[in-house]
Amino acid sequence: MFAARQVVTASKTEQYRELNAQLKSLLEGERNAIANMANFSSLVFTLLPDLNWAGFYLMRGDDLVLGPFQGKPACVRIPVRPTPRGVCGAAASQRKTQVVRDVHEFPGHIACDAASNSEIVMPLVAGDALIGVVDIDSPLVGRFDEEDRLGLETMVQTLVAMTDFVEQYA
Ligand code: SME
Repeated sequence: MFAARQVVTASKTEQYRELNAQLKSLLEGERNAIANMANFSSLVFTLLPDLNWAGFYLMRGDDLVLGPFQGKPACVRIPVRPTPRGVCGAAASQRKTQVVRDVHEFPGHIACDAASNSEIVMPLVAGDALIGVVDIDSPLVGRFDEEDRLGLETMVQTLVAMTDFVEQYA
């Protein structure tokens, strides 16, 4: 039992290491924010299993506004200030990743796609600037665990390091 869990753990971490390496080759040589966010969404959506949405919301004034994504059409504008809405608003206002096991239990969750049952939302911060959030949704309850959080946060760090967000979006 313990050994079997270790194997599963090692393989998921390994998958993220591989995905992060693929992300680096994909972004190599291009620092445009739209291009890199679009390819980030596509890579994640294509290669991670059991997702129904993956993409970006970008800070415009006091709101998050829909950016590049993969999945069904989504809500366009999410308030952050003065009162944050939904999981995305919480991640932006706290600048802290939100892992939500069951979105129906999250107060104020914004249901863009009725198929979503769990989600992870990470703040996108470059320098001191809050650029936006990265939102990834799944039809499975409890799809995202601590390993997903660490793996995806590393990928967001790669994206930030390889993109001129401050120049283009702060
Ligand atoms: N569910 C999110 C809104 C964005 S969509 O899921 C794409 C939220 O509660 O912030």
